[in-house]
Amino acid sequence: MTNPITNHAPQSLTIRTPDDWHLHLRDGAMLHAVLPWTAAHFARAIIMPNLVPPVVTMAEATAYRARILAARPEGSVFQPLMTLYLTEETDPEDVARAHASGLIQAVKLYPAGATTNSASGVTDFARVQPVLDRMAEIGLPLCVHGEVTDGDIDIFDREAVFIDRILDPLRNRTPGLRVIMEHITTSTAADYVRSAPENLAATITTHHLVINRNHILAGGIRPHYYCLPVAKREEHRVALVQAATSGDARFFLGTDSAPHTDPAKLQPCGCAGCFTAPNTLPILAHVFEGAGALDRLEGFTSLHGPAYYRLPPNESHIILTRGTPDIPQHIHTEEGPVTVFDPGFALDWRVA
Ligand code: NCD
Ligand code: ZN
Repeated sequence: MTNPITNHAPQSLTIRTPDDWHLHLRDGAMLHAVLPWTAAHFARAIIMPNLVPPVVTMAEATAYRARILAARPEGSVFQPLMTLYLTEETDPEDVARAHASGLIQAVKLYPAGATTNSASGVTDFARVQPVLDRMAEIGLPLCVHGEVTDGDIDIFDREAVFIDRILDPLRNRTPGLRVIMEHITTSTAADYVRSAPENLAATITTHHLVINRNHILAGGIRPHYYCLPVAKREEHRVALVQAATSGDARFFLGTDSAPHTDPAKLQPCGCAGCFTAPNTLPILAHVFEGAGALDRLEGFTSLHGPAYYRLPPNESHIILTRGTPDIPQHIHTEEGPVTVFDPGFALDWRVA
Protein backbone atom coordinates (compact mmCIF):
# COMPACT_ATOMS: atom_id res chain seq x y z
CA MET A 1 0.00 0.00 0.00
CA THR A 2 1.28 3.45 -0.80
CA ASN A 3 1.75 5.89 1.98
CA PRO A 4 3.03 9.14 0.56
CA ILE A 5 4.68 11.03 3.38
CA THR A 6 5.49 14.52 2.26
CA ASN A 7 7.20 17.29 4.15
CA HIS A 8 3.75 18.60 4.94
CA ALA A 9 2.57 15.32 6.44
CA PRO A 10 1.04 15.93 9.86
CA GLN A 11 3.08 14.75 12.80
CA SER A 12 0.17 14.37 15.16
CA LEU A 13 -3.58 13.98 15.09
CA THR A 14 -6.03 14.55 17.93
CA ILE A 15 -9.35 12.75 17.70
CA ARG A 16 -12.20 12.00 20.05
CA THR A 17 -11.58 8.71 21.83
CA PRO A 18 -12.69 5.89 19.51
CA ASP A 19 -15.27 3.20 20.19
CA ASP A 20 -15.23 -0.33 18.81
CA TRP A 21 -18.65 -1.33 17.48
CA HIS A 22 -17.84 -5.06 17.23
CA LEU A 23 -15.50 -6.73 19.70
CA HIS A 24 -14.87 -10.22 21.09
CA LEU A 25 -13.55 -10.08 24.65
CA ARG A 26 -14.17 -13.76 25.55
CA ASP A 27 -14.21 -14.64 29.25
CA GLY A 28 -11.99 -15.75 32.12
CA ALA A 29 -8.22 -15.64 31.58
CA MET A 30 -8.57 -14.55 27.94
CA LEU A 31 -10.83 -11.64 28.93
CA HIS A 32 -8.27 -10.48 31.47
CA ALA A 33 -5.46 -10.70 28.93
CA VAL A 34 -7.15 -8.93 26.00
CA LEU A 35 -9.33 -6.28 27.66
CA PRO A 36 -6.41 -3.95 28.58
CA TRP A 37 -5.49 -3.66 24.89
CA THR A 38 -8.94 -2.39 23.97
CA ALA A 39 -9.35 -0.28 27.11
CA ALA A 40 -6.06 1.49 26.29
CA HIS A 41 -7.44 3.05 23.09
CA PHE A 42 -11.24 2.75 23.15
CA ALA A 43 -13.82 4.23 25.50
CA ARG A 44 -16.63 1.82 24.66
CA ALA A 45 -17.22 -1.34 22.67
CA ILE A 46 -20.14 -3.43 21.51
CA ILE A 47 -19.41 -6.78 23.14
CA MET A 48 -20.14 -9.88 21.11
CA PRO A 49 -22.18 -12.49 22.97
CA ASN A 50 -20.73 -15.65 21.36
CA LEU A 51 -19.36 -17.17 24.54
CA VAL A 52 -19.75 -20.88 25.25
CA PRO A 53 -22.60 -21.02 26.22
CA PRO A 54 -23.78 -17.82 24.52
CA VAL A 55 -25.07 -14.71 26.31
CA VAL A 56 -28.78 -15.10 25.56
CA THR A 57 -30.75 -13.55 28.41
CA MET A 58 -30.75 -10.26 30.28
CA ALA A 59 -29.53 -12.12 33.37
CA GLU A 60 -26.59 -13.60 31.45
CA ALA A 61 -25.64 -10.24 29.96
CA THR A 62 -25.83 -8.61 33.40
CA ALA A 63 -23.42 -11.20 34.78
CA TYR A 64 -21.06 -10.97 31.77
CA ARG A 65 -20.98 -7.18 32.02
CA ALA A 66 -20.00 -7.45 35.69
CA ARG A 67 -17.14 -9.82 34.77
CA ILE A 68 -15.90 -7.38 32.13
CA LEU A 69 -16.04 -4.43 34.52
CA ALA A 70 -14.13 -6.46 37.11
CA ALA A 71 -11.45 -7.31 34.54
CA ARG A 72 -10.73 -3.67 33.63
CA PRO A 73 -7.24 -2.44 34.40
CA GLU A 74 -6.89 -0.20 37.46
CA GLY A 75 -8.36 3.24 36.75
CA SER A 76 -9.93 2.30 33.40
CA VAL A 77 -13.29 3.88 32.58
CA PHE A 78 -13.92 1.58 29.58
CA GLN A 79 -17.63 0.85 29.14
CA PRO A 80 -18.83 -2.46 27.67
CA LEU A 81 -21.99 -2.05 25.60
CA MET A 82 -23.75 -5.38 25.88
CA THR A 83 -25.61 -7.44 23.30
CA LEU A 84 -27.86 -10.49 23.49
CA TYR A 85 -27.36 -13.52 21.27
CA LEU A 86 -30.55 -14.13 19.30
CA THR A 87 -31.86 -17.70 19.44
CA GLU A 88 -35.12 -19.20 18.27
CA GLU A 89 -36.15 -19.32 21.95
CA THR A 90 -35.37 -15.65 22.73
CA ASP A 91 -38.20 -13.98 24.64
CA PRO A 92 -39.15 -10.59 23.13
CA GLU A 93 -40.06 -9.27 26.58
CA ASP A 94 -36.67 -10.21 28.06
CA VAL A 95 -35.02 -8.30 25.20
CA ALA A 96 -37.29 -5.28 25.74
CA ARG A 97 -36.55 -5.27 29.48
CA ALA A 98 -32.80 -5.50 28.88
CA HIS A 99 -33.05 -2.56 26.50
CA ALA A 100 -35.28 -0.45 28.76
CA SER A 101 -32.87 -0.98 31.67
CA GLY A 102 -30.03 0.44 29.57
CA LEU A 103 -28.10 -2.86 29.75
CA ILE A 104 -28.02 -3.71 26.05
CA GLN A 105 -27.46 -1.64 22.92
CA ALA A 106 -28.16 -4.36 20.34
CA VAL A 107 -29.16 -7.95 19.66
CA LYS A 108 -26.83 -10.15 17.62
CA LEU A 109 -28.03 -12.41 14.84
CA TYR A 110 -25.82 -15.32 13.89
CA PRO A 111 -27.13 -17.66 11.23
CA ALA A 112 -26.67 -21.07 12.89
CA GLY A 113 -23.23 -22.43 12.11
CA ALA A 114 -21.94 -19.29 10.34
CA THR A 115 -18.86 -18.74 12.51
CA THR A 116 -17.11 -19.39 15.82
CA ASN A 117 -19.62 -20.38 18.56
CA SER A 118 -22.71 -19.81 16.45
CA ALA A 119 -24.33 -23.22 16.88
CA SER A 120 -27.24 -21.72 18.86
CA GLY A 121 -27.96 -19.16 16.13
CA VAL A 122 -30.99 -18.88 13.90
CA THR A 123 -32.10 -21.44 11.31
CA ASP A 124 -35.82 -20.70 11.06
CA PHE A 125 -36.25 -16.94 10.73
CA ALA A 126 -40.02 -17.13 11.24
CA ARG A 127 -39.34 -18.14 14.83
CA VAL A 128 -37.48 -14.91 15.63
CA GLN A 129 -39.94 -12.58 13.90
CA PRO A 130 -41.72 -11.62 17.17
CA VAL A 131 -38.37 -10.51 18.61
CA LEU A 132 -37.51 -8.53 15.47
CA ASP A 133 -40.94 -6.85 15.52
CA ARG A 134 -40.48 -5.87 19.16
CA MET A 135 -37.01 -4.51 18.40
CA ALA A 136 -38.35 -2.41 15.53
CA GLU A 137 -40.98 -1.01 17.89
CA ILE A 138 -38.46 0.03 20.55
CA GLY A 139 -35.67 1.11 18.17
CA LEU A 140 -33.19 -1.54 19.31
CA PRO A 141 -30.60 -2.32 16.59
CA LEU A 142 -29.93 -5.79 15.21
CA CYS A 143 -26.27 -6.60 14.56
CA VAL A 144 -26.05 -9.13 11.76
CA HIS A 145 -23.40 -11.66 10.85
CA GLY A 146 -24.20 -11.55 7.15
CA GLU A 147 -23.30 -14.93 5.70
CA VAL A 148 -25.41 -17.85 4.59
CA THR A 149 -24.22 -21.21 5.82
CA ASP A 150 -25.41 -23.50 3.02
CA GLY A 151 -22.72 -25.99 2.13
CA ASP A 152 -23.44 -25.51 -1.58
CA ILE A 153 -22.71 -21.77 -1.50
CA ASP A 154 -19.08 -20.90 -2.14
CA ILE A 155 -17.54 -19.33 0.95
CA PHE A 156 -16.51 -16.24 -1.04
CA ASP A 157 -20.15 -15.70 -2.13
CA ARG A 158 -21.82 -16.18 1.22
CA GLU A 159 -22.15 -12.49 2.08
CA ALA A 160 -23.68 -11.48 -1.25
CA VAL A 161 -26.11 -14.42 -1.16
CA PHE A 162 -27.06 -13.54 2.42
CA ILE A 163 -28.13 -10.06 1.33
CA ASP A 164 -30.46 -11.44 -1.35
CA ARG A 165 -31.85 -14.45 0.44
CA ILE A 166 -31.97 -13.40 4.08
CA LEU A 167 -31.23 -9.76 4.83
CA ASP A 168 -33.31 -8.02 2.21
CA PRO A 169 -36.43 -10.15 2.90
CA LEU A 170 -35.89 -9.74 6.66
CA ARG A 171 -35.71 -5.94 6.32
CA ASN A 172 -38.80 -5.89 4.12
CA ARG A 173 -40.72 -8.01 6.63
CA THR A 174 -39.66 -5.76 9.49
CA PRO A 175 -39.92 -2.17 8.33
CA GLY A 176 -38.29 0.22 10.72
CA LEU A 177 -35.90 -2.39 12.15
CA ARG A 178 -32.49 -0.77 12.62
CA VAL A 179 -29.82 -3.10 11.23
CA ILE A 180 -26.04 -3.09 11.27
CA MET A 181 -24.40 -5.33 8.70
CA GLU A 182 -21.29 -6.26 10.54
CA HIS A 183 -17.77 -6.71 9.23
CA ILE A 184 -18.74 -6.22 5.58
CA THR A 185 -16.25 -7.66 3.11
CA THR A 186 -17.60 -6.86 -0.36
CA SER A 187 -18.43 -3.95 -2.62
CA THR A 188 -21.85 -5.63 -2.90
CA ALA A 189 -22.48 -5.05 0.80
CA ALA A 190 -21.16 -1.47 0.71
CA ASP A 191 -23.41 -0.68 -2.25
CA TYR A 192 -26.38 -2.33 -0.55
CA VAL A 193 -25.88 -0.16 2.54
CA ARG A 194 -25.59 3.01 0.44
CA SER A 195 -28.77 2.16 -1.44
CA ALA A 196 -30.82 1.56 1.72
CA PRO A 197 -32.60 4.01 4.01
CA GLU A 198 -30.73 5.36 7.01
CA ASN A 199 -31.80 2.57 9.33
CA LEU A 200 -29.15 0.34 7.71
CA ALA A 201 -25.47 0.82 8.59
CA ALA A 202 -22.32 -1.29 8.41
CA THR A 203 -19.18 -1.88 10.38
CA ILE A 204 -15.83 -2.46 8.73
CA THR A 205 -12.94 -4.24 10.42
CA THR A 206 -9.31 -3.28 10.60
CA HIS A 207 -8.06 -6.35 8.78
CA HIS A 208 -10.51 -6.21 5.87
CA LEU A 209 -9.09 -2.77 5.05
CA VAL A 210 -5.60 -4.22 4.58
CA ILE A 211 -5.80 -7.84 3.43
CA ASN A 212 -7.36 -9.61 0.50
CA ARG A 213 -7.64 -13.34 -0.12
CA ASN A 214 -4.19 -13.54 -1.68
CA HIS A 215 -2.72 -12.50 1.64
CA ILE A 216 -4.31 -15.59 3.17
CA LEU A 217 -3.58 -18.11 0.44
CA ALA A 218 -0.87 -17.08 -2.04
CA GLY A 219 2.65 -18.35 -1.36
CA GLY A 220 1.60 -20.40 1.65
CA ILE A 221 -1.40 -20.46 3.94
CA ARG A 222 -1.49 -17.83 6.68
CA PRO A 223 -3.84 -18.91 9.43
CA HIS A 224 -3.52 -15.63 11.31
CA TYR A 225 -5.26 -13.91 8.37
CA TYR A 226 -8.16 -16.35 8.42
CA CYS A 227 -11.34 -14.81 9.76
CA LEU A 228 -15.03 -14.85 8.95
CA PRO A 229 -16.34 -13.48 6.78
CA VAL A 230 -13.20 -14.43 4.89
CA ALA A 231 -11.34 -11.63 3.09
CA LYS A 232 -12.30 -11.35 -0.59
CA ARG A 233 -10.66 -10.12 -3.81
CA GLU A 234 -8.53 -6.95 -3.89
CA GLU A 235 -11.30 -5.00 -5.64
CA HIS A 236 -13.48 -5.59 -2.59
CA ARG A 237 -10.77 -4.44 -0.19
CA VAL A 238 -10.44 -1.27 -2.25
CA ALA A 239 -14.21 -0.76 -2.07
CA LEU A 240 -14.09 -1.12 1.71
CA VAL A 241 -11.30 1.45 1.99
CA GLN A 242 -13.36 3.75 -0.20
CA ALA A 243 -16.44 3.29 2.01
CA ALA A 244 -14.51 3.73 5.28
CA THR A 245 -12.65 6.82 4.13
CA SER A 246 -15.58 8.42 2.28
CA GLY A 247 -17.02 10.23 5.28
CA ASP A 248 -20.36 8.44 4.80
CA ALA A 249 -21.74 8.17 8.35
CA ARG A 250 -23.27 4.78 7.72
CA PHE A 251 -19.83 3.13 7.80
CA PHE A 252 -17.98 2.88 11.08
CA LEU A 253 -15.33 0.85 12.85
CA GLY A 254 -16.06 -2.57 14.30
CA THR A 255 -12.68 -4.23 14.69
CA ASP A 256 -14.03 -7.76 15.13
CA SER A 257 -10.87 -8.28 17.16
CA ALA A 258 -11.30 -11.98 17.88
CA PRO A 259 -8.50 -13.56 19.92
CA HIS A 260 -7.74 -17.26 19.62
CA THR A 261 -4.63 -18.93 21.02
CA ASP A 262 -1.96 -19.94 18.53
CA PRO A 263 -2.60 -23.67 19.16
CA ALA A 264 -6.28 -23.09 18.33
CA LYS A 265 -5.42 -21.32 15.08
CA LEU A 266 -2.44 -23.41 13.99
CA GLN A 267 -3.99 -26.82 13.57
CA PRO A 268 -5.55 -28.86 10.76
CA CYS A 269 -8.89 -27.12 11.34
CA GLY A 270 -7.95 -23.74 12.77
CA CYS A 271 -10.24 -21.12 14.28
CA ALA A 272 -11.40 -18.00 12.44
CA GLY A 273 -10.51 -14.62 13.92
CA CYS A 274 -7.84 -11.91 13.87
CA PHE A 275 -6.62 -10.21 17.05
CA THR A 276 -6.40 -6.57 16.04
CA ALA A 277 -7.14 -4.65 19.25
CA PRO A 278 -3.52 -3.65 19.97
CA ASN A 279 -2.67 -2.16 16.59
CA THR A 280 -6.00 -1.12 15.09
CA LEU A 281 -5.46 2.63 15.47
CA PRO A 282 -1.92 2.68 13.98
CA ILE A 283 -3.20 0.55 11.07
CA LEU A 284 -6.22 2.76 10.49
CA ALA A 285 -4.11 5.92 10.57
CA HIS A 286 -1.88 4.32 7.91
CA VAL A 287 -4.87 3.36 5.75
CA PHE A 288 -6.59 6.72 6.05
CA GLU A 289 -3.38 8.61 5.39
CA GLY A 290 -2.73 6.41 2.34
CA ALA A 291 -6.19 7.35 1.07
CA GLY A 292 -5.54 11.05 1.70
CA ALA A 293 -8.33 11.01 4.27
CA LEU A 294 -6.68 11.43 7.69
CA ASP A 295 -9.23 14.14 8.41
CA ARG A 296 -11.97 11.51 8.13
CA LEU A 297 -10.44 9.03 10.57
CA GLU A 298 -12.27 10.56 13.53
CA GLY A 299 -15.65 10.16 11.84
CA PHE A 300 -15.00 6.47 11.21
CA THR A 301 -13.59 5.66 14.67
CA SER A 302 -15.39 8.09 16.95
CA LEU A 303 -18.43 9.87 15.47
CA HIS A 304 -20.45 7.76 13.04
CA GLY A 305 -20.91 4.84 15.45
CA PRO A 306 -22.28 6.89 18.36
CA ALA A 307 -24.58 8.75 15.96
CA TYR A 308 -26.04 5.49 14.68
CA TYR A 309 -26.39 4.04 18.19
CA ARG A 310 -27.91 7.33 19.43
CA LEU A 311 -25.19 7.83 22.01
CA PRO A 312 -23.11 10.95 22.57
CA PRO A 313 -19.58 10.84 21.19
CA ASN A 314 -16.86 10.55 23.80
CA GLU A 315 -15.79 13.81 25.46
CA SER A 316 -12.20 12.66 25.86
CA HIS A 317 -9.57 12.66 23.11
CA ILE A 318 -6.58 10.59 22.10
CA ILE A 319 -3.51 11.82 20.29
CA LEU A 320 -1.86 9.88 17.49
CA THR A 321 1.72 10.85 16.79
CA ARG A 322 4.14 9.94 14.07
CA GLY A 323 6.38 7.10 15.22
CA THR A 324 6.71 3.35 15.46
CA PRO A 325 4.18 1.88 17.88
CA ASP A 326 5.38 -0.46 20.59
CA ILE A 327 3.23 -3.51 19.91
CA PRO A 328 4.24 -7.10 20.71
CA GLN A 329 3.99 -9.85 18.09
CA HIS A 330 2.16 -12.03 20.60
CA ILE A 331 0.47 -11.44 23.89
CA HIS A 332 0.67 -13.93 26.70
CA THR A 333 -2.52 -15.39 28.13
CA GLU A 334 -3.00 -18.17 30.67
CA GLU A 335 -4.59 -20.17 27.85
CA GLY A 336 -1.57 -19.72 25.57
CA PRO A 337 -0.03 -17.08 23.30
CA VAL A 338 -2.26 -14.98 21.04
CA THR A 339 -0.66 -13.57 17.88
CA VAL A 340 -1.34 -9.91 17.16
CA PHE A 341 -2.53 -9.22 13.60
CA ASP A 342 0.41 -8.30 11.36
CA PRO A 343 -0.69 -5.83 8.67
CA GLY A 344 2.36 -6.67 6.56
CA PHE A 345 3.69 -3.12 6.43
CA ALA A 346 5.58 -0.88 8.83
CA LEU A 347 3.41 1.24 11.09
CA ASP A 348 4.35 4.86 11.56
CA TRP A 349 1.56 6.14 13.78
CA ARG A 350 1.31 5.47 17.48
CA VAL A 351 -1.18 6.34 20.16
CA ALA A 352 0.53 8.85 22.44
C1 NCD B 1 -15.26 -14.46 15.48
C2 NCD B 1 -14.87 -15.21 16.75
O1 NCD B 1 -13.76 -15.76 16.80
O2 NCD B 1 -15.64 -15.21 17.71
N1 NCD B 1 -14.40 -14.89 14.42
C3 NCD B 1 -14.15 -14.23 13.26
O3 NCD B 1 -13.51 -14.79 12.38
N2 NCD B 1 -14.57 -13.00 13.07
C4 NCD B 1 -16.69 -14.67 15.18
C5 NCD B 1 -17.24 -13.74 14.16
O4 NCD B 1 -17.40 -12.54 14.41
O5 NCD B 1 -17.54 -14.19 13.05
ZN1 ZN C 1 -17.04 -10.97 15.30
